[in-house]
Amino acid sequence: MKRFVGKTIAVTGAARGIGAAVAERLLAEGATVIALDQDGSGLEATAQALRSQAFKPCVVDITEQQQVAGLIERMDRQHPLDGLVNAAGILDAAPFEQLSAKAWRRLFEVNVHGTFHVCQAVARCMLPRGRGAIVNVASNAATTPRVNLSGYCASKAAVAMLTRCMGLELGAQGVRCNVVSPGSTRTAMLHQLSGDDDGLEQRVVQGDLGLHRIGIPLGKIAEPQDIAAGIVFLLSDDANHITLQNLVMDGGATFG
Ligand SMILES: NC(=O)c1ccc[n+]([C@@H]2O[C@H](COP(=O)([O-])OP(=O)(O)OC[C@H]3O[C@@H](n4cnc5c(N)ncnc54)[C@H](O)[C@@H]3O)[C@@H](O)[C@H]2O)c1
Repeated sequence: MKRFVGKTIAVTGAARGIGAAVAERLLAEGATVIALDQDGSGLEATAQALRSQAFKPCVVDITEQQQVAGLIERMDRQHPLDGLVNAAGILDAAPFEQLSAKAWRRLFEVNVHGTFHVCQAVARCMLPRGRGAIVNVASNAATTPRVNLSGYCASKAAVAMLTRCMGLELGAQGVRCNVVSPGSTRTAMLHQLSGDDDGLEQRVVQGDLGLHRIGIPLGKIAEPQDIAAGIVFLLSDDANHITLQNLVMDGGATFG
C-alpha cells in the first residue's frame, strides 16, 4: 500500500521509538517525512538506518515555541504539510509525595506545551489549505490512573483533551485530529521504567494487583511498529471520516 505518495508528514520524536517507527512506515508508503527531535545524533542514526532522501531530519526542542514556529513555517514553504504526528514525549516516575515540582513542570512543558506548540504551528499552515490530519500520541495512562505516574498521567490526559478540542474546532476546516493511546511498548521509554529489571516485562504482561494493574489480555508488550500502524491509519485517507477519536492500542490492558 502506498497511501502517502506526494504527501509530507511532520513527525516529532522521530529519532527513536514510536516516532522512528512511524517515520519508517510513512517512508515505505511514499511520504516525505519532516523528522523533528531534539536528539541530533539520534536523528542522524535513524537517517542512516532508513537510508532515504525523503527523511528530512530537523533538530528542534518542542518546548521552544519560537523555534518550533519558525521551523514549521520554513519547512511548510518547501514541503506543504499534509499531516502531523506528535510522538515526542517524556516520562518521569515517582511516588506522588516525592514528585518534585521541577519534574512535574518538565512533564507538562514537553508533553503538553510542546505538543501545543507544534500543533498550533502546523494547524496555522493547514487551515488556509482546508485539509490535514493530526495524530497526537497520548497513552492509556491518560484515562487509567497508574501508580507512581501522576504527573505523566495528568500530562497525557491534557494531550488527549487538547487533541479532541482541536478536532472540534478544526473539523469544519478540513483538519482531522485524533489521539493514539499506546500501552506498554518496547522502546527506550519502557526501558527507563524497567531499568535492569528483567522480570518487569513479564510482570507487566501478567499484571500486578499490588500496583492495580490487570495485565495485558493479548499476552505481550507492543512493538513500536504495532503502534505506528494505528497512527498511520489515522493519518491516511482510509480514516477520512474519523476525527476526535482516541484509539487505545494496549492489547486490552485497560479494557478499551
Ligand atoms: N513506550 C511506551 O510504553 C509508551 C506507552 C504509552 C505512550 N507512549 C508515548 O509514546 C510517545 C513515544 O514514546 P517512545 O516510547 O517512543 O519514547 P522514546 O523515549 O523512545 O522517544 C521519545 C522521543 O522524543 C524526543 N523528545 C523528548 N523531548 C523532546 C523535546 N523537548 N523536543 C523534541 N524531542 C523530544 C526524544 O529525544 C526521543 O527521541 C511518547 O509521547 C510516550 O509518552 C509510550
